[in-house]
Amino acid sequence: MIKLPKHIENLIPYKAGKPVEELAREQGLTKIVKLASNENPLGPSPMAVEAVKNSLSELNRYTDPKSFLLVKKLSQYYEVPQERIITASGSDALLQYIIYGVCEPGDEVITSQGTFIGWYVNADKYNIKCVRTIMDDFTYDLNAILAAISEKTKIIYLANPNNPTGTMFTRSQFEEFLARVPDTILIVLDEAYTLYARKFKEYPDGLKYEKDNLMVLRTFSKDYGLAGLRLGVGFGEQNLIQALYKVKLPFEPNMLAQVGAMAALDDINFLKETAELNEKSLNKFRTEFDKIGLRYTKSAGNFLMLIFHDESTAIQFNNECLNRGLILRHTGSFGVPNGVRINSGTLDETEFAIGVIKEVFESIKVEV
Ligand SMILES: Cc1ncc(COP(=O)(O)O)c(C=O)c1O
Repeated sequence: MIKLPKHIENLIPYKAGKPVEELAREQGLTKIVKLASNENPLGPSPMAVEAVKNSLSELNRYTDPKSFLLVKKLSQYYEVPQERIITASGSDALLQYIIYGVCEPGDEVITSQGTFIGWYVNADKYNIKCVRTIMDDFTYDLNAILAAISEKTKIIYLANPNNPTGTMFTRSQFEEFLARVPDTILIVLDEAYTLYARKFKEYPDGLKYEKDNLMVLRTFSKDYGLAGLRLGVGFGEQNLIQALYKVKLPFEPNMLAQVGAMAALDDINFLKETAELNEKSLNKFRTEFDKIGLRYTKSAGNFLMLIFHDESTAIQFNNECLNRGLILRHTGSFGVPNGVRINSGTLDETEFAIGVIKEVFESIKVEV
């Protein structure tokens, strides 16, 4: 038998939201609504779909490893030089490449408890210790992160808004933090949900800060509705970007992802509709949850995290919703055992979810 490394044997892999087909198979339900993976309820950007369709006849070709045309367009769109941009199969792939390309054995990374599971898993994959500091009211405590810095710290990971809590830190908090982090430590600022947070005046746009030790990540999975296509973008210092190109798989992101993303960048209407629907859906949730006394986080993303008294109540609530065809996400694997995350939906999905949640809340007499 092949002897596996201990850290791989012990690795707890990424656990995705339950697929609709799986629940349909298990429960034989006819109506199922999935609000578990922060996907775009409007579907994919229509302009991206059109571009992908028109490129299918090129599938016999290997793709451009540097995504030249896409990077050029991203450079114009975001006003960032091309040398500072890399694309990959989702920002999750970039998280992996950053740890692989930057860390050596014995290095450590820091983030907060209760953040994106992808960061924990990627650190574990490379056997890099991930120090997790405590949260302050479901929000990153940036001072706790600063206090945890040691001579072993190589990277600090921050998601803003954060997943699964949706909370955000402000521009002044971030700027104070930036000024205090030694420039030998890379700060990874993951802005997967930036579209939804931009309306807040105090939201810091990571691309406004050009610091050599700051890397900003964006994804086309959420606001452009292209989670299935896999396209993530990293913006950072030129040498770092070159290092990441060395470790990246050569033919990612795939050709369809590249053309889809290029077209999506022009789909201004789709972004507008996405932001508007998100606001409507989450506001409906907030109104109804307030009426029944269900607590939730102050989210700047396209989701809320419901807060329960304890882990077993959160799990029971999640399971009871599943039994009724509503797929939500228990946040235990993110490090918040008493949370359940729900993302915005179409208005029909929102109504369905409210109906199920009220029924479950009533039937199990949830203690909040
Ligand atoms: C904060 C955060 N970063 C990254 C990702 C992964 O995005 P992608 O689909 O680009 O890999 C997610 C997905 O849920 C996320 O919430």
